[in-house]
Amino acid sequence: MNSFEQEIASALEATGSFTAEAALKLISVPPDTTHGNFTIPCFSLAKTLRKAPKLIAEDLASQVKLPAGLSKVEAVNGYLNFFIDRGFLAKSTLDEIAAKGLTYGHAASNGKVVCIDYSSPNIGKELAFHHLRSTMIGNSLARIYKAAGYKVERINHLGDWGTAFGKLIVMYLRENRPTDDATLDSLTVKELNILYASFSKISKEEPGLEDEARAAFTKLEQGDEFYRKLWTAFRAATLKELNRIYDMLGVSFDHYTGESFFEDKIPAILDELREKKLMVKSQELDVVMLDEFDLGPCLIRKSDGSTLYATRDLAAANYRKQEYNFDKCLYVVDLGQALHFKQVFHVLKKMGREWYKDMYHIPFGVILQLVDGKWEKGKTRTGTASLLRDVIEAAQKKILEFINEKNPDLENKEIIAREIGVSAITFNDLKNSRLKDVKFDWDAVMSFEGDTGPYVQNAHVRLCSIMRKAGYAVKLDEVDYAQLQDDNAYELIKVLARKGEKILAACNTDEPSVLAQYALEIAEYAHRFIHNDRVLGSAEEKSRLFLVQATQIVLENVLDLLGLFPIRQM
Ligand code: ARG
Repeated sequence: MNSFEQEIASALEATGSFTAEAALKLISVPPDTTHGNFTIPCFSLAKTLRKAPKLIAEDLASQVKLPAGLSKVEAVNGYLNFFIDRGFLAKSTLDEIAAKGLTYGHAASNGKVVCIDYSSPNIGKELAFHHLRSTMIGNSLARIYKAAGYKVERINHLGDWGTAFGKLIVMYLRENRPTDDATLDSLTVKELNILYASFSKISKEEPGLEDEARAAFTKLEQGDEFYRKLWTAFRAATLKELNRIYDMLGVSFDHYTGESFFEDKIPAILDELREKKLMVKSQELDVVMLDEFDLGPCLIRKSDGSTLYATRDLAAANYRKQEYNFDKCLYVVDLGQALHFKQVFHVLKKMGREWYKDMYHIPFGVILQLVDGKWEKGKTRTGTASLLRDVIEAAQKKILEFINEKNPDLENKEIIAREIGVSAITFNDLKNSRLKDVKFDWDAVMSFEGDTGPYVQNAHVRLCSIMRKAGYAVKLDEVDYAQLQDDNAYELIKVLARKGEKILAACNTDEPSVLAQYALEIAEYAHRFIHNDRVLGSAEEKSRLFLVQATQIVLENVLDLLGLFPIRQM
């Protein structure tokens, strides 16, 4: 079904006074519905129509053919007000939810493909708290695009190539660690972290160490077998821990094509850049100049022949286009890399890739934590950044304390506590426009009141608990829609009816926050309905229970689209 706004706009176009597009721009949804659910001020039309606004509204009210689902139209002092038919809205919305279930509001396939590059951490280190942002925004966008009709390719462009590996290899050998298969197999990312830290410390006193690391990476790039074996072990150790965390977060990928994957695809890019005379020497480096776009040169290759981050992104973009033939390619990466992506996209443009305009950097702000009363960005280097696994564990612990106090016999309480905890940190990350920095305040994030994850989870739990207590499910033909027309039911149904529109809005703006705000809205109206309209044991029990079921289905899927765990019991 089209939205009421669209229906009204088309009906107004039919009167010949304006285009549907112009009408759509004028329509607003007043917060107080005593003057209608949709209102159109006619003042701006006075000039073109050469009539008083009051008269325009009156004429339109008498001419317009009411779209289905609206009960009346009224002209009041230059405003044209439309009223929704509550019975129609209840029946059409709830019947459709019952028929479609979790996919209610999802768009049909649009035949388009979107690649989403997210999380993409650097190998050899543990995930820091700030990695949560790309991971969870990307995870949610992948779910949202799918619901909006796209085929989605979820890509983890692991940072598994580069000088960092030279550093790890140098340190590993310097400490004379065993290199037999069994030891390498049982390597942990924790040990790699320590190696990394020692490298940074020692290289301050021994500047030659940096050169050694660069040489080691070059050797690795040139295919040295022993170095490859070490690299493979470092990569596997990191992936093991990464996957453990992704499991806890409920995140997955279709492709783990990291930077190393593009190694053998780089020569073709270099050849093409040379052929097209795009590559020039600048201070010992091969670069592509981007002056005409007001951008600094894009660095392609170092003097020792080793390639760079941007080179691998050029190869990756080409590969994605060839392999997936995407209509859109998104990079969910922090704002700090804005210049890098501008450069990569413009080099592609210079290479004649018309599709460079289908590539989008989706930036986001940083996570701020309270340090001595001040909001600060954690730094990995100085060690003030928390590890993501520590944050997850702490969240789990906090929720477990709560469960132990309120419901100690709950089954699987450890897992449920972790799922609520993870959902709480995720919700805090997604609730505001992604470009805003995220203030992480433990008490606020974990609170069951306010704009929080636990608050929306709790709404879902309450709906599930009413359904459980009822012990039966209501069927379509048992519902009396006349019993769902009081203000509490009607306001909630109005919110549910907007699901499809919200999914598209979130997709069109690449903003999971649209759905996070929507989840809050559903939770709020659901709480209000349950609180004011007794469900179980009332004369309207079946009809109201049907609305509870529908609300639960909508909320469950919205939570899922955000990447939150839809908890049923806590
Ligand atoms: N590994 C990079 C980092 O941690 C992010 C990679 C983002 N994706 C990309 N295709 N460049 O900063």
